[in-house]
Amino acid sequence: MKIPRHLAIIMDGNGRWAEQRSLPRIAGHQQGVKVVQEIVRECSKLGIPYLTLYAFSFENWKRPQEEVRSLMELLTLYLRSELQTMLKENIRLNVIGDAARLPAGVRSILEQTRSATEGNQRMTLNLALSYGSRDEVLRAVRRICLEIRDQRLSVEELDDEVFSRHLDTAGLPDPDLLIRTSGETRISNFLLWQLAYAELYFTETLWPDFGREDLHRALEEFSRRERRFGLTGAQAQREKLSNREERH
Ligand code: FPP
Repeated sequence: MKIPRHLAIIMDGNGRWAEQRSLPRIAGHQQGVKVVQEIVRECSKLGIPYLTLYAFSFENWKRPQEEVRSLMELLTLYLRSELQTMLKENIRLNVIGDAARLPAGVRSILEQTRSATEGNQRMTLNLALSYGSRDEVLRAVRRICLEIRDQRLSVEELDDEVFSRHLDTAGLPDPDLLIRTSGETRISNFLLWQLAYAELYFTETLWPDFGREDLHRALEEFSRRERRFGLTGAQAQREKLSNREERH
């Protein structure tokens, strides 16, 4: 099975899962956290070097206050309970998004976890929190404009690579595969720049029902797809072979 270097997941369907069981929405999020724990472990076991989870979008701030508060609480509990696992399994935490909007307590535990796991190398768990891709791109553009104004960067120097370095995901490779659960087939303002060449995989399964077998199914489908990056099939094959030779 081909393992993506970077897997990104839009975890969707927690609310519907709860509604189907006549439970409060938060019960769906609680079950969602259990699935996060299982999927993080499995990705690390499979040797996936980068995993990005869309845990809280910019638009999610508009949800009822009670739900936002519960999600922040769940996130705090998750980080507290997972620190030991992250240290044991050599997992590094990274966060993308507009952290300034997060409650101080959440920011502080995120920072503690991030610095405690900084040296870990097996897998980077990248949490998208208070994240919106257009917001991220605009923040990057503003920073670039200031650098150009202050003559720390010239207009000619600005290319794909320089732009990527100004995004929250600086230092992370672009995702190879995006999974979205719950039957929705949208990108929803997630990693718009970074997903340019990613394979997209949509499943009807709701996030709280998503398990290791579902992950394996997505990876098997990914293994079968031919990624061409705009080349012809024959060119892409040649490129793949020469990359393989270079690595040996
Ligand atoms: C989408 O379901 C999910 C979210 C908005 C939040 C995802 C959060 C978790 C899985 C738990 C917290 C995360 C971590 C990393 C500990 P939805 O509520 O939009 O579902 P619906 O579309 O069925 O209403």
